[in-house]
Amino acid sequence: MSPPFQEPLFDLSAVTHLTVRRRNVLRSPKQYGSADEDARPYLDEMGLELLPVPQPIQFQPNTSEVVHRWSPYVQGFSASFVQRTIERYKDEYRSPVVLDPFAGSGTVLVQAKMNGLASWGVELNPLLHFVSQVKVSSWHVSAERFLRIAEQVLVSQKFAEPPEFLKSESHFRPAVLFHLRRLKGGIDSLQPTDEEEAQIRNLLLLAFAAILVDSSNLKRAPCLGYAPTKVVDDNAPLRLFSNKVHQIAEDLLLCQNRYTSYLDTPARVLWGNSMHVRPNEFCDLMITSPPYMNGMDYVMNYKIEMGWLGFGKSHRELKKIKDQMVVCDNVSKSLIHSFEQVERYTHPWIEDIKEHIAHNIRRRGNYRRHDMPSIVHKYFDDMYRVMRNTVEILRPGGRIVMVVGDSLIADVYVPTDLILARIGEDLGLKIERLEKARERRSGQVRSYRLRETIVTLRKPETE
Ligand SMILES: C[S@@+](CC[C@H](N)C(=O)[O-])C[C@H]1O[C@@H](n2cnc3c(N)ncnc32)[C@H](O)[C@@H]1O
Repeated sequence: MSPPFQEPLFDLSAVTHLTVRRRNVLRSPKQYGSADEDARPYLDEMGLELLPVPQPIQFQPNTSEVVHRWSPYVQGFSASFVQRTIERYKDEYRSPVVLDPFAGSGTVLVQAKMNGLASWGVELNPLLHFVSQVKVSSWHVSAERFLRIAEQVLVSQKFAEPPEFLKSESHFRPAVLFHLRRLKGGIDSLQPTDEEEAQIRNLLLLAFAAILVDSSNLKRAPCLGYAPTKVVDDNAPLRLFSNKVHQIAEDLLLCQNRYTSYLDTPARVLWGNSMHVRPNEFCDLMITSPPYMNGMDYVMNYKIEMGWLGFGKSHRELKKIKDQMVVCDNVSKSLIHSFEQVERYTHPWIEDIKEHIAHNIRRRGNYRRHDMPSIVHKYFDDMYRVMRNTVEILRPGGRIVMVVGDSLIADVYVPTDLILARIGEDLGLKIERLEKARERRSGQVRSYRLRETIVTLRKPETE
């Protein structure tokens, strides 16, 4: 689809002090290019246009919104995008059941509940499963009782041990670690005597998880790494925990007043792999943002919270979870090798892209991962499996609305949005709309403009 080889813009053979990676970036024929240009031949073949509909779709505004702000995991999308989508389609269905097979921190489920719509989620990371489940199942909790129990935790003298497999001494300053161990010890020593106390304990664990990175010498931006210039004072855990607890209490009161008749609206998150796991109920509206191809590692970036909450007891355990996820580009070589041995979903565009990536990697002689063509292939195969599994429970007339980011890999443009739309067609869906929501920069070639697209697919009324 794209030419197999394009001439570099500059001759850099005389410049010797550049790293190989930097030289490849500067030589990239994709400098100052754009996804819109490179997607043209694909769109022409599909006979479709991409509608420009600029809108905020990132998670950032959620950090100040009721309930959404309980967790700081910023890989999600904005509550306002989910709200617009619900409003757009809600009247076409009689009380639609909403589904998110990549529930993450629960944006879709929380927003569905705020609209009185039943919802389902599936999430493979046990920490995020816990977070999203707590965010939709605690709205009844008495804010007063919650604050009272939180006070007990703040003065507790019980100490928990930090997770053995993590380097907590380098993650936290000694005084900070002391307070964290005490807070966690206090939560662990609670012995719930009724359902509400069990929910309060979960809310406190969620609050504890939410302050860990802010209390640490690390930052998540979005990948987890050390922040050498970060200053954390001794009492940061106590202050941050207390603030988070008060924020949650405020939101509980607000939910009980504003969403009184929706407190019992069901919202259930299944813990599992959405390639196989799905609700046993038909759904009308699937709103989701799948992992991006060369994007986040949804396990290692959360290892601190997973370790402290007991959702992973070793790196080996975390790796096992990671290997089941829709693939990202730091999975094990052996996983990709075994993928290469079997017959998988494919499409001529995928084969073409793989070939061009392999060609460019050979030409460069050096690339971060030589198995990149197979990683790309596995990404689409994984997404095919998730879509096939969920299409089964999509009611006729139901819709899939996905926020998808495309990629640039070894100077080859990968139109992820269009390929996922084609997979939808292979599964019997109609492409209803392709909307370009925003532009973003490629991580590899900063001057190249990628995009984020809202892909809307519809299941025909009669099959
Ligand atoms: C882009 S995030 C979704 C964020 C979510 N929209 C939010 O607002 O928090 C993708 C999520 O998919 C999850 N995931 C990846 N592969 C999965 C799989 N095979 N089954 C279920 N969940 C998966 C990741 O753990 C991550 O939480």
